Amino acid sequence: MKVAVVGGAGYIGSCCTELLLDRGVEVLVLDSLVKGYADAVDERARFEQIDLQERDRLHDVLGQEKPDGIIHFGAYSEVGESMKHPGKYFRNNVANGLNLLDAALANGSPKIVFSSTAAVYGMPEKVPITEDQPLVPVNPYGESKLMFERMLQWYYRIHSLPYVALRYFNAAGATEKFGESHSPETHLIPNVLLTLLGQKEQFSLFGEDYPTQDGTCVRDYIHVVDLAEAHLCALESDVVGSFNLGSGSGYTVKEVIDTTEKVTGKKVPVKAEKRRAGDPAKLVSDSTAAQEQLGWSPKFNNLESIIDSAWRWLQKHPYGYKGSG
Ligand SMILES: NC(=O)c1ccc[n+]([C@@H]2O[C@H](COP(=O)([O-])OP(=O)(O)OC[C@H]3O[C@@H](n4cnc5c(N)ncnc54)[C@H](O)[C@@H]3O)[C@@H](O)[C@H]2O)c1
Repeated sequence: MKVAVVGGAGYIGSCCTELLLDRGVEVLVLDSLVKGYADAVDERARFEQIDLQERDRLHDVLGQEKPDGIIHFGAYSEVGESMKHPGKYFRNNVANGLNLLDAALANGSPKIVFSSTAAVYGMPEKVPITEDQPLVPVNPYGESKLMFERMLQWYYRIHSLPYVALRYFNAAGATEKFGESHSPETHLIPNVLLTLLGQKEQFSLFGEDYPTQDGTCVRDYIHVVDLAEAHLCALESDVVGSFNLGSGSGYTVKEVIDTTEKVTGKKVPVKAEKRRAGDPAKLVSDSTAAQEQLGWSPKFNNLESIIDSAWRWLQKHPYGYKGSG
């Protein structure tokens, strides 16, 4: 099997590429490096630096390579930035993504596995969240991902282009080779760990008065290797549709800090701040459908092993990858 991994020089894409290669899949990484790093591309993969906006080149590359499947991670994903520059998100995540759909359609209609997000649910009414809950994003990032899911649905209905959209909750952790390096880093676990590495003076804890067991927000963290595995299951199955991907367990921010202190043996300096606008109290996934229909079963489903792997990777790469991103 040959798979094109769009965004394979980014965090989740690099870990997924590694897993596919380990399983004997041939991988072609397509990435503009706008947010990714050449050093994050597994040396066993073939790499083509290309932007999804290069419509004709994209057609040529898929025409020459004829992949059996496409995994599409290539997008912008900072919620706060999307509230300031919505056009940037709709242009890249929707319009540029549409070029990929058209190029796939013109070149054998390989199955597309798409990185969607829990942000499509907005402020959910019920937790754990099932796929049938209302889709009401509260920021352009979530809206852009939902728009892409809707395009996938129409391309399937009209053109029979098969797809699976995976709505990730919080991806976290690392492999021995690849880990999380975003600029700016907006995710909780790397930010706690970067504080321990002295790159931030204090860790800002936003809100201690939420209706949760200790007053801090509850989130669902899924190990990046389990996430990668779900993409392979999605590619190999005949199923089409949208699925949640989380661990199904929620942890408060304070629990993440406590576990980090236990794993690293270091005290996290914390600065309590007011709530941020738009942060729901609890986001926890019900991932039963992915397990039952895609045959996926997460193996690294505990916070300690997630933080331990991220900490080991960051100690080896305290400033992430070399180069831009
Ligand atoms: N990290 C999470 O917790 C999380 C949660 C939910 C959804 N997601 C989604 O998963 C995907 C991967 O997330 P990540 O954390 O690995 O992000 P990332 O920024 O590390 O990786 C995205 C990659 O896509 C590339 N890219 C972006 N636009 C492109 C374009 N037009 N053409 C070619 N390449 C392009 C970037 O250069 C980068 O290498 C994203 O689509 C994101 O929205 C991530």
